[in-house]
Amino acid sequence: MTGVHDRPRRPLLTLLTTRHGSRSHMTCHYRCGNACDAPVPNRTDNPYFGDVATAAVSRRGLLQGAGAGALIVGFGGPLAAAAPAAAASRPHAPGGTAGAGGAAVVDAGLSFTPVPPNLLDELVTAPGYAYDVVMRWGDPVTAGAPAFDVDAQTPQAQSQQFGYNCDYIGFLPLGSGRDAGQRALLVVNHEYTDEQLMFPGVASQDAPTTAEQKRIAMAAHGISVVELRRVGRTGQWRQSPRRNLNRRITATTPMRLTGPAAGSEYVRTSADSSGTTVLGTLNNCAGGQTPWGTTLHGEENFNQYFGTSSVITEDPKEPRLARYGISTKALPGRRWDEVDRRFDLAEEPNEANRFGWVVELDPYDPDSVPRKRTALGRFKHEGATVRIAEDGRVVAYSGDDERFDYVYKFVSKGVFDPAEGATARAHNMTLLDEGDLYVARFTGDSPPEEIDGSGKLPSDEQFDGTGRWIPLVKDGQSMIAGKSVAWVLTFTRLAADRLGKQLDDGGDFADPAAPVVVAPALVPTKMDRPEDIETNPVNGRVYAAMTNNSARTTGPDEANPLTASYAFGTDTAGLGSNALRSGNRNGHIIEWIETDGIAGRDFYWRIFLIAGDPSKPETYFAGFDKSQVSAISCPDNLEFDPAGNLWISTDGNAVSVVNEREGTVGGSNDGLFAVPTAGPDRGHLRQFLTVPFGAECSGPQITDDGRSVFVSAQHPGETDGSTLETPSSTWPDRRRTRPFPRPSVAVVYRRNGEVVGT
Ligand code: FEO
Ligand code: CA
Ligand code: CA
Repeated sequence: MTGVHDRPRRPLLTLLTTRHGSRSHMTCHYRCGNACDAPVPNRTDNPYFGDVATAAVSRRGLLQGAGAGALIVGFGGPLAAAAPAAAASRPHAPGGTAGAGGAAVVDAGLSFTPVPPNLLDELVTAPGYAYDVVMRWGDPVTAGAPAFDVDAQTPQAQSQQFGYNCDYIGFLPLGSGRDAGQRALLVVNHEYTDEQLMFPGVASQDAPTTAEQKRIAMAAHGISVVELRRVGRTGQWRQSPRRNLNRRITATTPMRLTGPAAGSEYVRTSADSSGTTVLGTLNNCAGGQTPWGTTLHGEENFNQYFGTSSVITEDPKEPRLARYGISTKALPGRRWDEVDRRFDLAEEPNEANRFGWVVELDPYDPDSVPRKRTALGRFKHEGATVRIAEDGRVVAYSGDDERFDYVYKFVSKGVFDPAEGATARAHNMTLLDEGDLYVARFTGDSPPEEIDGSGKLPSDEQFDGTGRWIPLVKDGQSMIAGKSVAWVLTFTRLAADRLGKQLDDGGDFADPAAPVVVAPALVPTKMDRPEDIETNPVNGRVYAAMTNNSARTTGPDEANPLTASYAFGTDTAGLGSNALRSGNRNGHIIEWIETDGIAGRDFYWRIFLIAGDPSKPETYFAGFDKSQVSAISCPDNLEFDPAGNLWISTDGNAVSVVNEREGTVGGSNDGLFAVPTAGPDRGHLRQFLTVPFGAECSGPQITDDGRSVFVSAQHPGETDGSTLETPSSTWPDRRRTRPFPRPSVAVVYRRNGEVVGT
């Protein structure tokens, strides 16, 4: 065990103030371009709640009515139809090899001793577990890649080395026969760069960078594919000496736009008159694996990379840039326009429309061209996760990570071919190019006056209700009269805003400042920053993380019920306190079951967990005894182990347990938690690990045999004032001279080699 108390506490150097949970000013600047400082991009007057009342369906009424059985029985467990299909979502290699490690018998339930909150500059695991760093920023990836030298980085070197700020982790089996279960491909997103932690002499987030540094940063974005080899029969995995499948994808790698919006007028540029070839992928956050052995990569805060050298005046009916948080007045923060003019929208107005998609990658073919699948819509895709419906159609869920934005579901037209071999795989790799796109409406079943924003449970003791998937594109047709399919898919946020509203012949609001709701039941629900969405392989239920929403100060609805919550914060003098603050500061997790079939229209939902300090009244852990659970804040990425326990990684811990106890500032480190979703321990959440100081925990990936948990420790040392020369983290290298942090993927395993968690 890496003990919490057997290491000296790192001195708290520079954390005098925090913002948006425990996140530093630096995080906000680099990761999302200070998105929270901008107005909420969703300015349409979607009632947060008012229409919910008119359309509300009483759960008790349903219990008494004909539809009750299906709804309630569904949550009771007999998801027989769903579970095998969901289980089929586990990927297999194109050659048909078994999952890495093969099947293992696992017990439901969790038994590890939780890790206490801490601010250590270490990856701290539960007792009985250990970790190894698998890949660090700068580690050679491709054959012939140079060794990392932080003082002699070049774009060429970085484009062959592991990128910065690892996030999503895919784990795909490789090999057969004696090799089966011993080899795998690790596929990792590199969401963004922290220039002041990467380059010598960059003293602050606002300091200029050189052209060479900009090109290095572009090469440090994207995706890595790395072959791993298991250590014996343990849960440990290491880089393999084989590198023939290894690959780096960067902000300049050619990729193809496919699906209905490819080639449209909205995505053509001076460099690509066909509107089909894009250079690079940006801000890849979460992702998913397909049953046909490809990986999906969300393009999230792409807006911050674009700007303009001259003011752009948008049509108020179609704020194509503003609705995505893209500046119409200023040049981009990273100033990549200085080395590549396409990042200046005054020069290349459509370039930003070529980002914000889901990228599908075939990691088994190092020469494959990544595809941007436009049929899944364009927004700040946290990620995309796939399951197979009862009839074989492919369903992909995706959250739009912005305050007051939406949850989406894609349903393919074609059906999944489970056969092995190249023909079936080639067919399956077309499935994300044609289908229906829906956006979610969550309707509460309790009286509106019982949802008072405090987190107090309504009288039916559940935040719950019914849901409906509202079509944006269906059967190849746009559901927004006056707007084409390509428009709906390219400006998906604008399209979703229009649902249920009165529109003119052109498909626009007569008065964009005052949209008129004409069909409340078709208005999608504004959510508290929807992040990862994952399907439980055991019970077929879907779980979606709402990470937080400090701006929800009024207008709670039953699916986003908090307008106040306890969180740590600092005053202008730098003094911290844990106090009731406006907004949903710690986030929540919603659970739903598709009641009309996996590809269908209707679902029943309920809140599984309201995060925070469990001693505070607004928190909720599926009804479990709160005195026994760990504090958790800002759920972000989700994962399931083979037994169906939910694993949750966090980003931006706003809980102040450590502060209260030790009088320090800055909250507690982020980490990974696990919680049963069924049985008597449902809701018994425990912290499994914490990541090093300043880092967020992302990309949890559990192997099919349940013996290994991969995590990304993203942006260690990303605290205000921290630079390469004066770092607040030295993890993982702990160099004696000139230490600095390196974002890294680690594998966590049980020392006795058994399944993790149990
Ligand atoms: Fe990159 Fe929504 O987290
Ligand atoms: Ca209710
Ligand atoms: Ca995330």
